[in-house]
Amino acid sequence: MELDQRDLSQVCVIILAAGKGTRMKSEESKVFFPFLGKPLLSHILQAAQGLSTKKILVVVSPADFDRAKELYHDTAEIVIQEEPKGTGDAVKKALNQRPGEKYYLILCGDTPLIQSSTLLSLSEIFFKTHADAALITAIVEQAKMYGRIKRNPEGDIEEIIEYKDATQEEKNIHEINSGMYLFKAAALKETLHYLKDFNAAKEVYLTDTLKQIRQKNGTISSYQLEGEKEIFGINNRRDLSRALMMAYQQKNESLMLEEGVTIIDPEHTFIDPRAKIGQDSIIKPYCYLEGPVCIGKNVSIGPYVCMRASEDKPIVIESHCQVGPFTSLRGGTHLKQHVHVGTFVEVKNSTLDQNTKAMHQSYLGDAEIGKKVNIGAGTITCNYDGQTKHKTIIKDGAFIGSDAILVAPLSIGELSYVAAGSTITKDIPDQSLGIGRSRQENKIGWKKRAIIKKNNESKGDTK
Ligand code: UD1
Ligand code: CA
Repeated sequence: MELDQRDLSQVCVIILAAGKGTRMKSEESKVFFPFLGKPLLSHILQAAQGLSTKKILVVVSPADFDRAKELYHDTAEIVIQEEPKGTGDAVKKALNQRPGEKYYLILCGDTPLIQSSTLLSLSEIFFKTHADAALITAIVEQAKMYGRIKRNPEGDIEEIIEYKDATQEEKNIHEINSGMYLFKAAALKETLHYLKDFNAAKEVYLTDTLKQIRQKNGTISSYQLEGEKEIFGINNRRDLSRALMMAYQQKNESLMLEEGVTIIDPEHTFIDPRAKIGQDSIIKPYCYLEGPVCIGKNVSIGPYVCMRASEDKPIVIESHCQVGPFTSLRGGTHLKQHVHVGTFVEVKNSTLDQNTKAMHQSYLGDAEIGKKVNIGAGTITCNYDGQTKHKTIIKDGAFIGSDAILVAPLSIGELSYVAAGSTITKDIPDQSLGIGRSRQENKIGWKKRAIIKKNNESKGDTK
């Protein structure tokens, strides 16, 4: 089925995000809860942007107006719903702001897993059938608290019954409402007008517009999904956790089946959907990879590795590296080919060039480390003086002995050595040795003298 871009360019998107979110039991608004590195609302906005529609409106509560404006002023127009009187009321507010559109695509701010491609499929059905409204539904085993889709014997949608208002028989329906609809403007405006809050929740339900459309002999089509995965709505913290687990599961499966990555224990492996991992890499159990992490081919990660990258500070790990066990990599880490970082090593904002090793208990922050460098156990780059971060440069082939304290700004020359246990505060030239510790002194016979002294004291001889 082909979709004419000219049709989409006449669609105005309305994202409903002004609900109280009471079931989250939080002072934070539900749609601003973080989900895979950004607010829930940003995910649905991103899916909507994928359609290249004419305009996007986001309906928020007065308390969220400034924040929404700051975050989304480039992509959307922000509309206020003064009181959360229901989804129907929220749509009315958006229509008041922008009444002259031809089609309205309505989405909920709490369904972050929806894909643009599914919204496109809904649009295709809507425009192909010339319906007054089209919606995404899903067939599920457990219909939970979703609205139930009621169809007549011919299979046409008659109405949506909200869980709170459903009879036992209606609760047994397995087809649910996603909360995502495309309306012809005329059909929506006409029916919104009639909506009342005569229901269990005392809210103005957007879902009631469909019954009204049918009563006026309008037509409703649907795009039906198998399972609730993509339309999963987050109403409480258990939903939040489940949605995250669904996203992780999907990512693991695509890595294993499409990218050729071995994941030993997918149930205990959490990889951000933005992460990229090359073929024949292996992820061992209990790894948590957050943000845009880019891992090359034949890399071994884990067990127990944590990576935290962000859009402005990504993590790059080139091919044939080994990371773990128990390693923490933070934003701006770049490991070039064949680098090993091991147990209790933390790296931040640093580059380790090819074949360099930091195998045990180290902190490497704001460092530029060359090729074939050996970082001994317990090496610390002291990058922060309480006010500013400073850089440590370690050139190719340097050998840093164990328990070295490298006070930045600092440069250690090519093939140079740092003696174990040193505190290094001055640059070390190429091919040199830096020692920064007090000399050892051995007191020969010290123990023997101490014993004689003790014996004399116990005999009362104080001389
Ligand atoms: C809604 C649908 C239900 C559907 C489900 C799908 C209604 C009446 N019910 O139920 O049929 O199965 O979504 O996930 O529409 N919102 C506002 N203003 C309000 C109330 C809500 O903007 O006054 C926003 C919320 O922030 C949320 C969205 O609308 O993003 C949906 O509201 P929510 O209360 O979560 O509706 P559900 O009970 O999930
Ligand atoms: Ca919801």
